[in-house]
Amino acid sequence: MSNTPTRTTFTVQAMHAIDQITGAVIPPIQPATTYARGSDNQLIGEQDYRRPSGPTEKQAAKVLAMLEDAPEAKLFSSGMAAIAAVIESVPTGGHVIAQTEMYYGAKLLMQRAAAKKRITLNLVPPGDLHALTAAARPDTNLIWIESPANPSWAIVDIAKTADIAHAVGATLGVDSTCAPPCTTQALTLGADIVMHSATKYLNGHSDVLAGVLATREVNARWEEIGEIHSKTGAVPGAFETWLLMRGLRTLWVRFERQSASALTLAEALQGEKGLEAVLYPGLPGHPGHGVATLQMSNGFGGMLSVHIAGGYDAAARFAAATRLFTQATSLGGVESLIEHRKPIEGPDSPVADNLVRLSVGLEDPADLLADLRQALQACRAA
Ligand SMILES: Cc1ncc(COP(=O)(O)O)c(C=O)c1O
Repeated sequence: MSNTPTRTTFTVQAMHAIDQITGAVIPPIQPATTYARGSDNQLIGEQDYRRPSGPTEKQAAKVLAMLEDAPEAKLFSSGMAAIAAVIESVPTGGHVIAQTEMYYGAKLLMQRAAAKKRITLNLVPPGDLHALTAAARPDTNLIWIESPANPSWAIVDIAKTADIAHAVGATLGVDSTCAPPCTTQALTLGADIVMHSATKYLNGHSDVLAGVLATREVNARWEEIGEIHSKTGAVPGAFETWLLMRGLRTLWVRFERQSASALTLAEALQGEKGLEAVLYPGLPGHPGHGVATLQMSNGFGGMLSVHIAGGYDAAARFAAATRLFTQATSLGGVESLIEHRKPIEGPDSPVADNLVRLSVGLEDPADLLADLRQALQACRAA
């Protein structure tokens, strides 16, 4: 047996620091906001105040850094708080390139900063390396990509994008929420910063709001992000962090099962009556399949989308007709969710009117397939 445990083993074991007083096999929660000093006014322990992180958050950040092969990671109160910190680290007037299609909340945040002239912004289609190269300039400060990209699951080649970013001296940030570190290690592929909405796969139980940033190197930008993190205090509570650690222990098995079920559904739904397209990077016909095979080593994820024949209204009917899939936003939890995206993202979004997004959970894939088929039938009959 090797002396170095695999990352899977580490993820389970890292949170099993046996409590030497009680013998408890799970870590305690430490919610204290302040820490005592002795009569010499020296701190008794290692810290004086909870912000930006107490012992529980430090433990989780250490595990996440290990999963990303990063020297450091930071926990935020949400994925959006993590993205906001990265945007805040762009110098005033700095040039940012992001995607026309990506998590729409992050795009809106960047467009808001651009409208206030805090940054200048160019959006390029996800994975279009020619458009990205043309948009990159000597003053480009940040290139922000998302892969797979919400909600068509376009794949962006992280290694090639890193080359383009570094050729102009820009930082490459990757939102890897839908490709957690059990399948993609964005920093190893050349990204400078990787971000996750830990609300999704990392926690996996739809009961924690949190975000993560991890860095390839501790440099001036990371120090700046650290300042923003500690001064704004956009940090998760100890209980949320403890729940996140509980969820993380099962990340590998959840993600493998969700990926396998999503692939089963995607394959079975291809050519199904009532569907115009099935969008899933695990399908050989998906335009990003080749790159996905290279940079998603342990499953293509549990997210897929379908285009429903009959347009906007048919898509709305289909999403409402499922019984096992719950109509709700978000993704990556153990329960399957379905969402008609256009009314969520609004008329300005490039998302197709008839796109319905599925987050595949841990239910039996045969049951999920039967549910989707009955919903398609109900939708056609209406
Ligand atoms: C890909 C992606 N990035 C970022 C976010 C934002 O994360 P949070 O909801 O934790 O703020 C989301 C949320 O849906 C997301 O799907």
